[in-house]
Amino acid sequence: MLNFRVDTRSARQQKGGGGLRAPRFFAAVLFTACFCVDGFMPAAAADGGAGPIAEVAEVVIEKMEFVPKQLKIKAGTTVTWINKEKRNNHSVLFEQENMLESDRFFPGETYQRTFDKPGTYPYRCGPHPEMLGVIEVVE
Ligand code: CO
Repeated sequence: MLNFRVDTRSARQQKGGGGLRAPRFFAAVLFTACFCVDGFMPAAAADGGAGPIAEVAEVVIEKMEFVPKQLKIKAGTTVTWINKEKRNNHSVLFEQENMLESDRFFPGETYQRTFDKPGTYPYRCGPHPEMLGVIEVVE
């Protein structure tokens, strides 16, 4: 399963109305396979695929900043924060949600959260309160 590749570009060029769904499904499977290695199972895959297909969204942490600061995603999307610093560790802290906070993550490490409910989710870094970001989740 890990050997095949999904070429969405060529899939889009194929004729037929159903042509897009299958590649997206396989992309989701591949996505799931990758994350299972890290012990993480997206909610969309856990329910047998009936839910929304998980899409990939990333926030990079570099030079004491979340990039992009503002990120708009569809409900059901998993956001991955990637620490690309040389030596600083960070966290992702949602003050408005009972101070929900990730573990500190170090250069090369990531943190993931899946957003199922539409809304605005401001956050900051735990050890660096001046580092701010917001995830906007739409239907
Ligand atoms: Co920080």
